[in-house]
Amino acid sequence: MKDLFERIIRDKGPLGKWAKQAEGYYVFPKLEGKISDRMKFNGKEVITWSINDYLGLANHPEVIKADAEAAAEHGMAYPMGARMMSGHTEVHEQLERECADFVKKETAYLLNFGYQGIMSTIDALVTKNDVIVYDMDAHASIIDGVRLHHGKRFTFRHNDMESFEKNLKRAERIANETNGGILVISEGVFGMRGEQGKLKEIVAFKEKYNFRLLVDDAHGFGTLGKTGAGAGEEQGVQDQIDVYFATFAKSMAGFGAFVAGDDEVIQYLKYNMRSQMFAKSLPMPMVKGALKRLEMIRTMPELKKKLWKNVNSLQSGLKEKGFNIGHTNTCVTPVFLEGDIPEAMALVHDLREHHRIFCSIVVYPVIPKGMILLRLIPTAAHSLQDVEETIVAFSAVREKLEKGVYKEMAMSLEDLK
Ligand SMILES: Cc1ncc(COP(=O)(O)O)c(C=O)c1O
Repeated sequence: MKDLFERIIRDKGPLGKWAKQAEGYYVFPKLEGKISDRMKFNGKEVITWSINDYLGLANHPEVIKADAEAAAEHGMAYPMGARMMSGHTEVHEQLERECADFVKKETAYLLNFGYQGIMSTIDALVTKNDVIVYDMDAHASIIDGVRLHHGKRFTFRHNDMESFEKNLKRAERIANETNGGILVISEGVFGMRGEQGKLKEIVAFKEKYNFRLLVDDAHGFGTLGKTGAGAGEEQGVQDQIDVYFATFAKSMAGFGAFVAGDDEVIQYLKYNMRSQMFAKSLPMPMVKGALKRLEMIRTMPELKKKLWKNVNSLQSGLKEKGFNIGHTNTCVTPVFLEGDIPEAMALVHDLREHHRIFCSIVVYPVIPKGMILLRLIPTAAHSLQDVEETIVAFSAVREKLEKGVYKEMAMSLEDLK
């Protein structure tokens, strides 16, 4: 028999094994200053492209004021306890009504944390007789939710409707045997590559197959659709989404999340989502702060307009310079380059230290070997000046990458820091 920690200390895990070389720079970087288009990294000002503050609300004076006033009135603890026991208030219910209205659903229920919330939503919606069919590129929170499922599950190739139908057929066969139902899960927007989930195509299959659709619209909420109700509204199928989920962590620049749908379904979830029934409710400053943010999203369409102006100028500017930005049809802007991991690290180091551009970097195994994905999140807080400087910087580093400069640098990752 082994000591349990023997493996942990030796192995460190797939990301943890890079900690010595990467921590503090490539992972766990410390961005300082107020959340905005320009923050400090390693003591220098950088243009930040890795914060999901889509509508620029994080540092809006009205938002800060609302948060501060609520904290001064209630402290951070109120209400104490889970919603079901002692953590319930009229203000929580008001936010639920407003969230439901905003996404055009009958009822909403607040979740004290998006990640656990969606896990519990999945967990509560299915029993072992039910079958889950979900997109292969799903967010970790969805995958973890599916892990809780005791019945069958099938993945379909990302946004591939042929693969979707094939797996739906498999699911149907099993569900017929077990007398269960089928839950299909997609994201409204896939956060790495920026493609919308093919919700319109997925719901068209409802004519032929009997399933319910859960959509995680973390990146679509507030950014897509005429009123900001998300990817479903953008694609004209919001009413066909049976269970809608969004987090407050992105467009709302806050904390918490909600799930929305028909009243009967949400009432069921309210009494069956374990992560909500047995955990502390969302603190009042978060709830009052969310009400303020939602009001601003509803009444200040200029925020979304400014966001999209920046998105369009960034994406068209990159395309004009010949960059491969994949198939994004959302704000998420991926830039695909070719190179190995040490080159990617040298390139990002150059971007941060010499061009003052801070963006996230994604490499194998998240994307195929030999590819580098630089992920940019434009927001309403950015300026066209930020966009211009970034495109100039990207052109410069691409040229160096193609000339093999980053390969030649052959520095150890430790030296790069
Ligand atoms: C698609 C998706 N779902 C769920 C979550 C989890 O939300 P939260 O950060 O509120 O826990 C995230 C990340 O924020 C996400 O991107």
